[in-house]
Amino acid sequence: MQLLDGLATAALVRQSIAREVQSMVASGKRPPHLAAVLVGDDPASRSYVTGKIKACEEVGFLSSLIAFPSTISEQTILETIDDLNQRSDVDGFIVQLPLPQHIDATKVLLRLNPEKDVDGFHPVNVGKMCLGLDGFLPATPNGILRLLEQYHIETTGKHCVVVGRSAIVGLPMSILMQRQHYPGNATVTIAHSKTQSLRDITRQADILIVAVGRPGTITGDMVKDGAVVIDVGVSRVEDATKKSGFRLTGDVVFEEVAPKSSYITPVPGGVGPMTIASLLLNTLQAALNHQKSSA
Ligand code: GUN
Repeated sequence: MQLLDGLATAALVRQSIAREVQSMVASGKRPPHLAAVLVGDDPASRSYVTGKIKACEEVGFLSSLIAFPSTISEQTILETIDDLNQRSDVDGFIVQLPLPQHIDATKVLLRLNPEKDVDGFHPVNVGKMCLGLDGFLPATPNGILRLLEQYHIETTGKHCVVVGRSAIVGLPMSILMQRQHYPGNATVTIAHSKTQSLRDITRQADILIVAVGRPGTITGDMVKDGAVVIDVGVSRVEDATKKSGFRLTGDVVFEEVAPKSSYITPVPGGVGPMTIASLLLNTLQAALNHQKSSA
């Protein structure tokens, strides 16, 4: 069993981005600028956004955090998006999900200018992804592709089972794994909460990607010997031995599954850092596109 080290791989990606930013700045250009909109005080969302802002600083990007209380109106969010859409000093921005119930997330996502949608959530970018056209790929699935690439994991003709069908991870992951180039060309099955005999399906997986957000979803008996296992789940579970009072855990029972797998991502330190690295790559691309169109 070998660990797929997301921390180390993401550090390599950040180094190459930092070099590109340095040469951008040396040629008199403004560094890429990412803005993040955060609504409410969910500790996990706040921690994700803080991680994104910190990563921007590390590679030399400019960043802005626009934080609102959970009581903010939908109208104010939409106006904030309109403002970010038209600001020429912002190359890309994200709206951290989930949003409070009274705000219609679809309405919010539809308001984004697809050229600044560095999360790749706008239907224009989702459509481009489905058709294999240039656009912004969603950060978590793209980070997983880069991790597979980094470790030269064979995907062609392999059976990839994706557990979870969310718009952010499961669905786009399933589309990307069957693309007609590496890493892709896999035979893909999507399993979800209504799937019968989940174990019979996951046991067929050469590559098992799990994104349901429920600890303990995948136990040792559900995995074939030699499978590649990608654990996207990040849940907080109480742990009195930690200063914070919690620890992070994935969807996969690591102690049972790791000995059977050829490669596996740890949680934390697997997919999470790659998500952030991919967001930085999209922001760099948005800045390059922006510079080209305004040259
Ligand atoms: N919530 C969980 N994952 C993500 C992500 O990748 N982007 C945003 N904006 N919100 C999220």
